[in-house]
Amino acid sequence: MIARGKFIVFDGPDGSGKGTQLARLEQWLGENGRSTVRAKDPGGTEIGDRIRHVLLGHDLAQMAPRCEALLFMASRAQLVREIVEPALNTGKIVLGDRFISSTCAYQVAAGFPREQVIALGNFAVGSTWPHLTIVLDVPPEVGFERTGRKPHHVSRRGGTGQLSMFDDAEPDAMERRPLDFHRRVRQLFLELPSAYPTPVAVIDGARPADAVFADVLQTVQRALG
Ligand code: TYD
Repeated sequence: MIARGKFIVFDGPDGSGKGTQLARLEQWLGENGRSTVRAKDPGGTEIGDRIRHVLLGHDLAQMAPRCEALLFMASRAQLVREIVEPALNTGKIVLGDRFISSTCAYQVAAGFPREQVIALGNFAVGSTWPHLTIVLDVPPEVGFERTGRKPHHVSRRGGTGQLSMFDDAEPDAMERRPLDFHRRVRQLFLELPSAYPTPVAVIDGARPADAVFADVLQTVQRALG
């Protein structure tokens, strides 16, 4: 019988470098004889990509928070059934780019109760939670500097007194949210090790990529046993 694979998720604030670290780990695992499969969330399947389009393309101010949370969960219900579970059943290592941990940060920052996110997550993915979630921690200022969306010009929106971060490029619906929101997101990611049902490791992602990867590798090697 083939040993069941492992599900490792990279998560963190926008611009945390998770894409870079995921690619490096993917390459390292390949060189060390392990088969990997990527799982992009939201998205990663045809159905998930359509849900992603709805989530990121529209003005989220119009989307009810419960609708938003359910759409993220719907996308990953499909991802788990179509991609993650079959890969784990054939002994592969699944490398997730975001997962329920993101909803525990972004939607909870927007006011959704964390326990409800976890409960919805249980419904969406059953027992297929990650074996390990690696949160790459960066302050929002560093993250947005990296993504090229730095708040170079501050403007007021809709009389709410909220500071809009951007007035250039075309940020997606999430990125259009104000800086205070992204500070809360970071804080909620930092709380995950004691709030998430499966293990979470926080790694300082503000350092050069080589130093971050050394920590990623050490954490993964420990998890893979
Ligand atoms: P994505 O395009 O995957 O961003 P990145 O390239 O940074 O991974 O995700 C877009 C945005 O969606 C991102 O700002 C985080 C947000 N998001 C949530 O708000 N909730 C979630 O559950 C997920 C998965 C993402």
